[in-house]
Amino acid sequence: MMTIQWYPGHMAKAQKQIKERLKAVDLILEIVDARVPESSINPMIQELGQNKPILLIMNKADMADPRRTQQWIETFKKRGITAIALDAQHKAKLPMIEKVAQEILAEKLAKKRAKGIRNPVIRAMCVGVPNVGKSTILNRLVQKNIAVTGNRPGVTKNQQWLKAGQTLELLDTPGVLWPKFEDPTIGSKLALTGAISDAIYHPDDVVIFALEHFKEYYPSQLQKVYKVTDAELEEPTAELIMILTKRLGFKEDYDRFCVKFINDARQGKLGRFTLDVVPVEAS
Ligand code: G4P
Repeated sequence: MMTIQWYPGHMAKAQKQIKERLKAVDLILEIVDARVPESSINPMIQELGQNKPILLIMNKADMADPRRTQQWIETFKKRGITAIALDAQHKAKLPMIEKVAQEILAEKLAKKRAKGIRNPVIRAMCVGVPNVGKSTILNRLVQKNIAVTGNRPGVTKNQQWLKAGQTLELLDTPGVLWPKFEDPTIGSKLALTGAISDAIYHPDDVVIFALEHFKEYYPSQLQKVYKVTDAELEEPTAELIMILTKRLGFKEDYDRFCVKFINDARQGKLGRFTLDVVPVEAS
């Protein structure tokens, strides 16, 4: 099983910048991929966030297993985190972000109103590991050409706040922040959903992990897409890979099958799936 561990210098710089900028925000909007809602959380954000409230946006909910999405929302709630599920490609649900942000900050906003501020603004920072749909959400929320300047206490001069609703102003994260992966399966999960670059994982590790998950939780999707029989589902995973490699006409070239499987999963051809299993005590 692969282990992906790296921590380039630019991430240390991003970490420092995030810490600095977080001082000026009311709320962290952490965008995760609904197919890996726990594995795509960046644990460092909570650490850097100095107890700032977090709204977890489970994006790409259209590609995730809806039952598990609901279970994860409940699980996060038990952990004291508000999570909502979205599909950023469809605009309809996006106003929910501002509404829920207002609910999370109700007390703080009420205090501001009591002080005479009529429409208190919510300042939020968007964070998310690559490919979770952060740019899509930002682009859709932000009303064109309305950038609010950021000369406010605690904010770097000329930093741009983007108006993203009646009361919501957003700040994008500088750079990409990545934690070390302690658990190698997290690497496989993030590779399968496209969050980590193709150069740094082994396709066969990812496919072995994914096929085992699909055999256990989504066998009918394997049966439908690759015509896997009941008997073949019982085969060891390495054997199943060879069977499917031949079935697809790739002869002995199982690497080719692995690449195809990963692409099929990423493009939604294997149906909806969620790779993070909800912990038993919370389901
Ligand atoms: P990032 O900033 O977090 O790195 O992600 P970005 O918004 O660039 O989105 C990554 C890919 O995910 C894009 O597809 C985008 O269209 C797609 N995407 C974003 N949100 C959703 C969603 O809720 N559901 C689904 N199904 N897809 C979503 P792409 O193929 O890389 O580019 P594009 O040609 O579609 O723009």
